[in-house]
Amino acid sequence: MTGKADIIRPKWHFALKKGWLNDPNGLVWFKGEYHLYFQCNPYGNEWAMMHWGHARSKDLIHWEECGAALLPEKEYELWQRGGCFSGSLIVYKERLYAFYTAVSSKDGEILQTQCMAYSDDGCHFERAAENPLIGRCPCPDSHDFRDPKVIYHNGRWQMLCGGSSGDAEDRRSHGRIYLFHSEDLLHWDYDGILYEAKDGEGSMFECPDIFPLGDHWVITASPMNRTDFQGTIYMTGLVNFKNCIFYVESSGTLDFGPHYYASQAYRDRYGRLISMAWLGGWEWMPWIRDHGPSEEDGYRGVLSYPRLLSEARDGALKMRSYSSVDDAAREEGELIRKIARGTSAELFRGEEPVRIRGSIERSMGTNLIQFRFMDEDSHCIRVCLDFLFGSISTDFTEADPWIKNGRKLYKAEIGGEDEIPFELIRDGNVLELFLFDGRYAVSSMIYPSGGKFRLLIGNKGAGIKLRYSVSGS
Ligand code: FRU
Repeated sequence: MTGKADIIRPKWHFALKKGWLNDPNGLVWFKGEYHLYFQCNPYGNEWAMMHWGHARSKDLIHWEECGAALLPEKEYELWQRGGCFSGSLIVYKERLYAFYTAVSSKDGEILQTQCMAYSDDGCHFERAAENPLIGRCPCPDSHDFRDPKVIYHNGRWQMLCGGSSGDAEDRRSHGRIYLFHSEDLLHWDYDGILYEAKDGEGSMFECPDIFPLGDHWVITASPMNRTDFQGTIYMTGLVNFKNCIFYVESSGTLDFGPHYYASQAYRDRYGRLISMAWLGGWEWMPWIRDHGPSEEDGYRGVLSYPRLLSEARDGALKMRSYSSVDDAAREEGELIRKIARGTSAELFRGEEPVRIRGSIERSMGTNLIQFRFMDEDSHCIRVCLDFLFGSISTDFTEADPWIKNGRKLYKAEIGGEDEIPFELIRDGNVLELFLFDGRYAVSSMIYPSGGKFRLLIGNKGAGIKLRYSVSGS
């Protein structure tokens, strides 16, 4: 790997002091604080022998790392390439129940079973004596089978599990979401396949999630080998749990960037829906050659900034960066700036974590607006809004050497918009951009040489006017 990277620890994002981290597995407000659980290997910065890590927070931004909540210790989860895989968490009668996939190997066969552990304090978990609650997947031609998500609906517990019709690595396999139900959290009945991917939609659906939003259900998943490489997709529609049917009405992606994987939706202490994801990806993804240079600092993996989820007028999902109720009232000084026809201007240059919120006004004569995120060596990520063709493109071809995400074009319903609200967070090695009140988002890890980060905004056409405010740590 060439190029000098600056490894800057994020201050507002959760990362381990040492060790490997991937998917978030649960987040609850429980007994006066938030408890966050996630996939981790505390002994090294390589993925191996998965534990459920644990951290606590009062505000979802500043975290205290705690000892692991689930350490692989039972026969059904003791394996170097296995352990306690992803899942979800519920609170029932003042007790936490963690559902996870135990992965082990016997006579060369990989066993993925669904298990449960419970806790009364969020720190110490007891395995259910009945584990594994679900052994082999009852679907006859199933292959992979993991990542249980449990919710309460229709007077009983419902569980979604990710799966595949064949080997997950085989591009001809189709990702699946299985449905189960239970009256007592221990005995689970199989309902069937709630969704099966069509050609090109992915060979395995990892970390499925489900939550109600407005009049619809939203299902998200992280597909392996999807032909358009979207990290986390969403589908909205109606779910008939009794007959195991999902009528999909619309679909999209949670993020256009290379790094937003295994998102799960949670409730904050005020009952608002938030999404958090792993800002990372796997080696089989074309843009991941390794996991970036943060290993030199002894850790790998960062979780996203929490995002408030809401529904746009047309049923699409919107995600704004999290602000607590107190935060929302805080005033920030507003700057106003005009950028002349066909030119661009620098809005920010600095090393410290920064959050820039603003709005761009364009006249109908301005067809193109471009965001450029640059470092001192002119590495550059471009996000371009094309109002004539109704598209958003991301261009990583000149990005720092750790991100090989190329150029991608997405259809976006922006043609008629003349006001473009945006928000940007740059925190250490993380970049998150929200456009149009969070209807479109772009997240990426960045390793700016020189440590400094620059934001430039430009236009093609009649010029733009900007109002924005900058806040720091
Ligand atoms: C998703 C995933 C899950 C699995 C976990 C293992 O990133 O591959 O499907 O449970 O990570 O760490």
